[in-house]
Amino acid sequence: MSTADDDAIVARELTKTFVVARKHTGRFAGLRSLLDPVSDKVTVVDRLTMRVGRGELVALLGPNGAGKSTSIKMLTGILTPTSGEVYVDGRVPHKDRTSNARSIGAVFGQKTQLWWDLPARQSFALLRDIFDVPQALYDRQIADFDSILQLSEFWHTPVRNLSLGQRVRCEMAAAMLHDPRIVFLDEPTIGMDVVVKEQTREFLRAQVQERGRTIVLTTHDMTEVARLCERVLLINRGRLMFDGTLTQLKAEHGGTSHVNVTFAEPVNAVSVPGTRLVSHDGMRAVLAPEGATTPEDVVRALISHYPVVNVGVEETNLEDLMRDVYLAQLDAASAASHLA
Ligand SMILES: Nc1ncnc2c1ncn2[C@@H]1O[C@H](COP(=O)(O)OP(=O)(O)OP(=O)(O)O)[C@@H](O)[C@H]1O
Ligand SMILES: [Mg+2]
Repeated sequence: MSTADDDAIVARELTKTFVVARKHTGRFAGLRSLLDPVSDKVTVVDRLTMRVGRGELVALLGPNGAGKSTSIKMLTGILTPTSGEVYVDGRVPHKDRTSNARSIGAVFGQKTQLWWDLPARQSFALLRDIFDVPQALYDRQIADFDSILQLSEFWHTPVRNLSLGQRVRCEMAAAMLHDPRIVFLDEPTIGMDVVVKEQTREFLRAQVQERGRTIVLTTHDMTEVARLCERVLLINRGRLMFDGTLTQLKAEHGGTSHVNVTFAEPVNAVSVPGTRLVSHDGMRAVLAPEGATTPEDVVRALISHYPVVNVGVEETNLEDLMRDVYLAQLDAASAASHLA
């Protein structure tokens, strides 16, 4: 890999280790910690190698504590990696901090980057001045953001008085005001109701499709991932466990959809190539497509070979799939630590 100016983001063996104080336990623990400080190193991002192309919208997924926010902090230059390389828009984020700040935008759903005592509208104007955003671009951006995110209803209210969902919408606008090419969103939809979540998705989709921005987002909301992201990167215990589409993730982890069929008359044996028969009771059957077989292939095969009166596809529940994936990885990690 080169520094890859053609890619929006390149990370190679990116690692972050924190040094944490180990607490003594038992009698006089406080005193002993003071007299005999011992520290441990914890690696929370472990040789993460990934790339994101320009104009891609990818999700960084993983259980609590997996290292998602720490990775995003390294990609945005907030944290310096312990080792490894990182290029964002061709720059090293923690070194070229000023030029990096101009080409990226970031939202950390849990923290505000707006001025707490000012109305959001005034924060936008300050950001315009800080980033030298030309007035015409500024006006266009504000109108654009307001049309989808409906900010003007509350942007004269001091940020401290905004609801969480209102504030995060303002944060998102603030992060994109200076027209950054690459945007990092760490749990942007936290605290949003379903209607606002949908508006936000529409907004993000438009930013990618119409403005060509690259977006990396973390979320625990799988519906969001399914609706927005072509590609997901799954990290667990700081390691990249999966990089691909949700369809591939489902295929690899057996999270297959099921095809439910009802026949007009009892059928003795049901057999469709490329499927596993999950259940069959004469009038009804459930089949799971395997390998490259899609649910649509199964529906077609059933209709042409059997007296079908009703057929439907039951999609995999993504939340269930992710739970299985996380648990499987947890088991693998504890097995590995027993062997070590
Ligand atoms: N400054 C720090 N010092 C020591 N440990 C840290 C520090 N920052 C984060 N960690 C630890 O690193 C691990 C990864 O944290 P991180 O915030 O990246 O997780 P996450 O994937 O974003 O989780 P969540 O889904 O809960 O937001 C956690 O175990 C956390 O406690
Ligand atoms: Mg986090």
